[in-house]
Amino acid sequence: MSHNPACPSAALGDRCLFVSAAALSVSSRGFPALYAEKSRLSADHNVTSPHSAIRRALSYRADIARLGLLVVEQAFGEATLSHEFGSLKGRTAVITGGAQNLGWAIVESFCSAGGCAIVVDRDTSKINPANSAEAILTLEADVTDPTLPDRLDALLRDAGRSLDILVNNAGLGRDGGHALTASEDEFRTCLDVNLVAVFRLSRWAVSKMMTRGGSIVNVSSVYGEVGVPGMCGYSTSKSAVLGLTRQMATDFGPNGIRVNAVAPGVIEHGRTAEHIYADAWYRHVMIDGAPMRRTGKPEDIAPAVRFLASDESSFITGQVLTVDGGWAMGRFPREYPIGEI
Ligand SMILES: NC(=O)c1ccc[n+]([C@@H]2O[C@H](COP(=O)([O-])OP(=O)(O)OC[C@H]3O[C@@H](n4cnc5c(N)ncnc54)[C@H](O)[C@@H]3O)[C@@H](O)[C@H]2O)c1
Repeated sequence: MSHNPACPSAALGDRCLFVSAAALSVSSRGFPALYAEKSRLSADHNVTSPHSAIRRALSYRADIARLGLLVVEQAFGEATLSHEFGSLKGRTAVITGGAQNLGWAIVESFCSAGGCAIVVDRDTSKINPANSAEAILTLEADVTDPTLPDRLDALLRDAGRSLDILVNNAGLGRDGGHALTASEDEFRTCLDVNLVAVFRLSRWAVSKMMTRGGSIVNVSSVYGEVGVPGMCGYSTSKSAVLGLTRQMATDFGPNGIRVNAVAPGVIEHGRTAEHIYADAWYRHVMIDGAPMRRTGKPEDIAPAVRFLASDESSFITGQVLTVDGGWAMGRFPREYPIGEI
């Protein structure tokens, strides 16, 4: 038997199974059962000194529950009962804008948690086939397409899957303009992609989840929580997504459907890195002003989305999880000149 690293003491070594069994007896049926089983355990597990093993088990009484779990795991196969944090085993998730950057990090995280990801993106060619797992299905589509719900219905039917999770990640990163100069079209386009499409897809998702429950996670932004210069359309749309999150959480909580949002701060990847490194003012405000003094990475956002999608957050709904290194909480740029550390 291999040594289980979860064993609470190296001293127990490869007798972990025996000691765990003894502890299980203690926790479930009391001490008499422990002694009654001593000979059986001895025979089954080839332990030469059951008395000493039992003594050792008793000295680890604080770990009894854990040890009890261990023996069942060891007897019936690894991880039979162990709880995998954030597991999405058997769950099907639609993830919009999942072909790259934040969306792709979410897709990878979901697949590594045992889930199946359906990536909806207007450009699926950005998905690197070398990285795509079997658990990824793709649908090339624009989230503003009103027929998208029907297309997703067909895809789910063909794949024999039911929807458990929707992640509304696709978003228009363009600023949507200054309130005095932005055209109405520019403003409306921002709302169409960042808000109306989220509304349409979420409405479709809850209709699929009505009897079995489910989880929706909307990717908003810190700019939906605080004002930001010259980003009228973006900030308005991301803020409205937070309102929609609370509203849908209220309406569909009774159906076991949770709706939450993640609000990322500045996340660095190919496209955003250009802006970050070209604009000293932006760096000063967004990085020097953040308590953690750094930009985020797509991998900083994915676990937050996975947490809200999984049963780990089963009593959380209508909330915004801000993942920004503390920026929106309190912005205090350093007083000394830009560039000086
Ligand atoms: N990157 C950041 O700093 C940051 C910060 C806060 C919030 N966010 C939000 O996170 C989400 C993802 O950001 P990102 O930086 O990874 O974006 P990105 O632009 O790098 O990638 C977005 C993905 O969505 C797809 N997409 C865009 N519009 C679409 C549409 N209409 N229909 C279908 N697919 C579409 C794109 O093809 C792309 O694959 C967005 O909602 C964004 O507003 C990003």
